[in-house]
Amino acid sequence: MALLFVLTLLITVFCSVQGRSFQKTSFEMTEENMEIGSTNNFEEDDQSASSLILKANRNLGQRHDETLVLFGDIAVHPKFINADPCTSRDCKWPKSSDGNVYVPYVISNQYSMRERLNIESWLQTFAKSTCIRFFRRRGQQAFLNITSGSGCTSYVGRQGKAQQVSLSRNGCVHLSVVQHEMLHALGFDHEQTRSDRDNHVQILIQNIQPGLEFAFRKINTINLNTPYDYNSVMQYGRFAFSRNGQPTILPIPDNNAVIGRATEMSPNDILRINRLYNCSGQQE
Ligand SMILES: *[C@@H]1O[C@H](CO)[C@@H](O)[C@H](O)[C@H]1NC(C)=O
Ligand SMILES: *[C@@H]1O[C@H](CO)[C@@H](O)[C@H](O)[C@H]1NC(C)=O
Ligand SMILES: [Zn+2]
Repeated sequence: MALLFVLTLLITVFCSVQGRSFQKTSFEMTEENMEIGSTNNFEEDDQSASSLILKANRNLGQRHDETLVLFGDIAVHPKFINADPCTSRDCKWPKSSDGNVYVPYVISNQYSMRERLNIESWLQTFAKSTCIRFFRRRGQQAFLNITSGSGCTSYVGRQGKAQQVSLSRNGCVHLSVVQHEMLHALGFDHEQTRSDRDNHVQILIQNIQPGLEFAFRKINTINLNTPYDYNSVMQYGRFAFSRNGQPTILPIPDNNAVIGRATEMSPNDILRINRLYNCSGQQE
């Protein structure tokens, strides 16, 4: 019932997005506003996933080809529009009998040797603290196709066939971004869309770029008994998609709390992977 509601809601969102022709302009205006915000709130060398992704994606609009729609950095096919994959088993990657979860990928030769080595070593960071094992595809049907497309984007959860993960050479080849997009591919949504977010952040609709309000819609996420985490690599910064340089995401009750500055997966991000995928021996 709730699922149906969310689905209907998202389909409505999709249709309204399809109908908007000024979407690209909206993203371009976001860029200016991010820069206004940067004077006080971002450092020059800000390596947080949020800043890097919003910067790399600033010129991305909604792509209508291949019926692909972007929600910030989440790519969605209409038939997979349910962005809450954790409610169903379909979006999870299968667990092998040895307890590991093997996720096949191919990586484009658009990257320099150094970029490829970096990306692949960042994929291996998951093996240190979780049962996720990214490995080079050997004929598997469902796999991540990592390419330098436009911006930093990923589908949420396993799509059952080739699924694009775009890590543009122009701004996405960073540890925080790679971990963020892989967390999407593993089935995780943005922190600020969590079902319990209203207890931790206030969304200031009046400051959101018109037409992008849907990116802040709450999702009926499974929170796996982990707390809301301002330091999650999935948390966007307080000026995300601002129309006017004013905050769009305000932490509450402490409005000055630091949010969206994670430069790598937080202990909570790791815990959630281990809970969602039931990684044994790593539950604590
Ligand atoms: C990965 O995506 C690129 C770009 O769309 C495409 O050219 C390539 O064939 C894909 N690779 C595989 C193995 O599907
Ligand atoms: C999780 O792992 C435990 C112990 O390995 C097992 O008993 C349990 O059935 C698993 N649960 C799921 C949902 O896979
Ligand atoms: Zn994202």
